[in-house]
Amino acid sequence: MSKRIVGVVGAGTMGSGIAQLAAQQGFEVVLYDLSEDLVAKGMSRIAAALGKSVEKGRLTEEDKNAAMSRIRSTSELEALRDGSVVIEAVVENMAVKKEIFARLDALLGPGAIMATNTSSLSITELAEATQRPDRVAGMHFFNPAPVMKLVEVVRGLKSSDDAIAGLMALARELGKEPIEVKKDSPGFIVNRIMVPQFIEAIRLVEEGVATPEDVDKAVKLGLNYPMGPFELQDFAGVDIGLHVMDYFYEEFKDERFAAPLSLRRLIRAGRTGKKSGAGWYDYKPKQ
Ligand SMILES: NC(=O)c1ccc[n+]([C@@H]2O[C@H](COP(=O)([O-])OP(=O)(O)OC[C@H]3O[C@@H](n4cnc5c(N)ncnc54)[C@H](O)[C@@H]3O)[C@@H](O)[C@H]2O)c1
Repeated sequence: MSKRIVGVVGAGTMGSGIAQLAAQQGFEVVLYDLSEDLVAKGMSRIAAALGKSVEKGRLTEEDKNAAMSRIRSTSELEALRDGSVVIEAVVENMAVKKEIFARLDALLGPGAIMATNTSSLSITELAEATQRPDRVAGMHFFNPAPVMKLVEVVRGLKSSDDAIAGLMALARELGKEPIEVKKDSPGFIVNRIMVPQFIEAIRLVEEGVATPEDVDKAVKLGLNYPMGPFELQDFAGVDIGLHVMDYFYEEFKDERFAAPLSLRRLIRAGRTGKKSGAGWYDYKPKQ
């Protein structure tokens, strides 16, 4: 049986990772971004990631080429028309996402499911940009999408059981372990737990209790986490962490989510991490 067509909107970090994953699992993929240039960048990111797997002996050259040949890249949204599931992974901006969902709604067949990879925005609000909010739900992958096992499938207020079941099944077909987030709540599960840990880790450094390096070491060796809170912030981008804290604070009106001042200072100093090594490490707070 030939697998269904998966559409992916946005060929950035997450979109290209999701497209790669789906293609490797045998789906036909249509990958869309705003321009030929942007979508070509996504395609070269995928080729490079697959190339690395070939180098490491985890993939044959043949499998790499087969996966690449299953991805059609496009700068025309209309090319997603035949997708049975379309996963949106564009910038974290409600207005931009709403416009895409309204256009997808007008384009896709009646059985299609529209999923968003948003990390924090309301699925329920986004679904209202369409005439069929029952066919909209969250499908939250983690970075890097081809590697990380978890997918949070998030139920908006009007998501149908059928749409949720469809996304849970798709996640399993993609080799993932999905869990259902039964309510559309800010940060879903993982980020809701992770953000207070980031905040507490930063407070320990602000209070002079330990350095970022030693907090990371403590968490890795004492809690058996693969990465410490500072390494993880630097990897994901320190500014993204602040953005999520501010969003939680706004939504929950709870002091627990108030961003520490030193985090804002770090970002003002231009130290945003993302593998540059210029994030939290070697940070010396002013006493
Ligand atoms: N990076 C992560 O660790 C991570 C993890 C889970 C979820 N997310 C979520 O995934 C989404 C994408 O994040 P990312 O890190 O891949 O971002 P990114 O900046 O790497 O990529 C975003 C892509 O969207 C494209 N884009 C912007 N506007 C568009 C439009 N109108 N139509 C089509 N494409 C458009 C951009 O050209 C870019 O290629 C966000 O909602 C983010 O919150 C990110």
